[in-house]
Amino acid sequence: MNRQVEIIEVGPRDGFQNLKEYIPAAEKIRIIEELIGAGVRHMQITSFVSPAAIPQLRDGREVAAAVLEKHPDLDLFALVPNFRGAQNAWETGLRKVTNVISLSSAHNMANIRRTHDQSFAELEKITAALPELNACLDIATAFGCPFQGKQREVEPLLAFERRAYDLGVRTFNLCDTVGMADPRQVREFITATRETFPDVRIEIHIHDTRGLGVACTLAGIEAGADGVQSTLGGLGGCPFAPGASGNTSTEDLVFMLEEMGYDTGIDFRKILSAAKREFKCIDGNYSGANIRVANTIDELAEAPCIH
Ligand code: COA
Ligand code: ZN
Repeated sequence: MNRQVEIIEVGPRDGFQNLKEYIPAAEKIRIIEELIGAGVRHMQITSFVSPAAIPQLRDGREVAAAVLEKHPDLDLFALVPNFRGAQNAWETGLRKVTNVISLSSAHNMANIRRTHDQSFAELEKITAALPELNACLDIATAFGCPFQGKQREVEPLLAFERRAYDLGVRTFNLCDTVGMADPRQVREFITATRETFPDVRIEIHIHDTRGLGVACTLAGIEAGADGVQSTLGGLGGCPFAPGASGNTSTEDLVFMLEEMGYDTGIDFRKILSAAKREFKCIDGNYSGANIRVANTIDELAEAPCIH
């Protein structure tokens, strides 16, 4: 049997959060439904953040409630920056959140205006007040920061993870917020995390700034990541991280992994159609390589030469 890979779609949060023009909630829900129709089973569907910080996702409650009602059995979650966000997510019916804290203190301040101590105090409040909520940790800038540079040593990451581990957090998502990671570094950071915290679930989230999204994500899978995040079309970026560009695209990842014999559970044709539709309808920063080409390798081979 093929080895399974858990692809976690985060486009409805990381893809949409940068877009200035408001996408109506109904359109967001339609795209989420299309993703589910293509086989996506794990998805970050919105965030519960200050509407002043991210106006695009001010409809988080509406979107989450609608999708949860229709798909109670899927692994659906939202990003939160603080206790308030976690509480709102819980009240909406979500049972899993990712609390984002940046490894870089400068980026943490730019993104959520808190010191590390303040952020970990919020995380402690979340785990204490909402013990039934699965509170995961998004470690932003785990591989590098637009203000503090590339993260060359793994020790600060392990010390950071220790703080969350001691609060009971058992899922770490190592985020390459601006696309500074390289495959060797991904392998090293995942291996060190695994050796230090054998009972923790590890995910990665790689931006495709220099075309290394798929390479770094594959390195992560081969190093034993339990789940990998990506966005439809590679739509993405971070409004509080200068230089952040698109994400690793879900359809590129599905294509590569299925060709390699992995089982993603996602239908390439359907996910590519969804990506192409999003590309046509929503103006944004897309890094997906397949968006402009034919649907399968066979079609690619058969496609007439254009010059
Ligand atoms: N959801 C909704 N509103 C929230 C909120 C949340 N999770 N947290 C705070 N607010 C509101 C407060 O009630 C307050 O509203 P008011 O002005 O009407 O009274 C306002 O936001 C400011 O609250 P404060 O605690 O002073 O926050 P801040 O201005 O220091 O901002 C964050 C801190 C974390 C709330 C804000 O920076 C944020 O939401 N950042 C998210 C960044 C993000 O999503 N980045 C991309 C993903 S990595
Ligand atoms: Zn991101």
